[in-house]
Amino acid sequence: MEKEDVIILGIESSCDDTAAAVTLNGKILSNITAGQEIHRKYGGVVPELASRAHQQHIIPVVDEALKVAGIDKNQLDAVAFTRGPGLIGSLLVGSSFAKGMALGLGLPLFSVNHMQAHVIANFASRDPENHNPPPFPFLCLTVSGGHTQIVLVEDFLQMKVIGQTLDDAAGEAFDKIAKLIGLPYPGGPELDLLSRSGNSSRFTFPKPSVPGLDYSFSGFKTAVMYFLDREKNKNENFIQENLADICASVQKSIIAILMQKLEDAVTATGIKNVAIAGGVSANSGLRKILEDKKNNGWNVFIPAFEFCTDNAGMIALYAYYRYLNGPPDPPDIIPVARFPF
Ligand code: KG4
Ligand code: ZN
Repeated sequence: MEKEDVIILGIESSCDDTAAAVTLNGKILSNITAGQEIHRKYGGVVPELASRAHQQHIIPVVDEALKVAGIDKNQLDAVAFTRGPGLIGSLLVGSSFAKGMALGLGLPLFSVNHMQAHVIANFASRDPENHNPPPFPFLCLTVSGGHTQIVLVEDFLQMKVIGQTLDDAAGEAFDKIAKLIGLPYPGGPELDLLSRSGNSSRFTFPKPSVPGLDYSFSGFKTAVMYFLDREKNKNENFIQENLADICASVQKSIIAILMQKLEDAVTATGIKNVAIAGGVSANSGLRKILEDKKNNGWNVFIPAFEFCTDNAGMIALYAYYRYLNGPPDPPDIIPVARFPF
């Protein structure tokens, strides 16, 4: 290892995944995530149970991340953690652990905004020399379980939200509709899987009309709910008999809503470098439609699957750019459930 090498341990614990990763000069050496099965039983994340599971997972996950990276804790140059937004109990576990580790090892501590880190996931790679990251400026559609944002990215640490949801997030719409049709939590990936064998033109749903570059998914979700109730009144087996077509039609509608505002943002800014990030960027339909946009003159960037959903690689990587550009955070920094962008 060269003396100027920068090795960072990142810790992510904002929701129901306990994750740790190690980066070497911006290259991802390890990216370990422990999910939490316990929430499936309840059809959604139970915050207190998430905090307890984080406590159980954090030591083995950090240990594994260091082992896989082949890095001893004494070789680290900094420790990073997710400061927010997220569940406060979950954030407390990761931040307390990171602070303790930084203090014990005498290392600088960097806190990271989870949503900005999702954008930075576009730069995450295990093989940076063969990775093609988006050039600045670019637009990033960040679609997760709690957020839907169009971000104008001018530099690694210079980002501005130019559009966002006024109510539910796109991931939340996937999850809530999936729950209505009886799919297990988290419903997004399940709905995606079923969509592949369905007819996406079978059912149509009203599209929200929201000014500017903002989104709304709450009315859409309610419209789907009423539609399902109406059809179930006519045929009680409607959902089971039409499951794949319902999934495909819902997915097509959510993607159309997302794409409309993204297209408006491209027109408004004149920026054709377009990236996506966040859990919903793992969606096969969204990825395909963006791939097709390459033929329309867009330069499209899609993170590898492992960096789409919550992961610590993006946290360590964001901290690397902070490390290169400014001072660390004070040791008494606290996590925040709502973290302005
Ligand atoms: O970014 P993320 O892992 O966690 C948050 O920060 O919220 O996003 C989780 C969200 C969930 O709503 C999940 O259902 C959704 O991403 N998701 C998907 C897919 N994979 C994950 N939604 C649609 N299709 C997928 N393949
Ligand atoms: Zn996330």
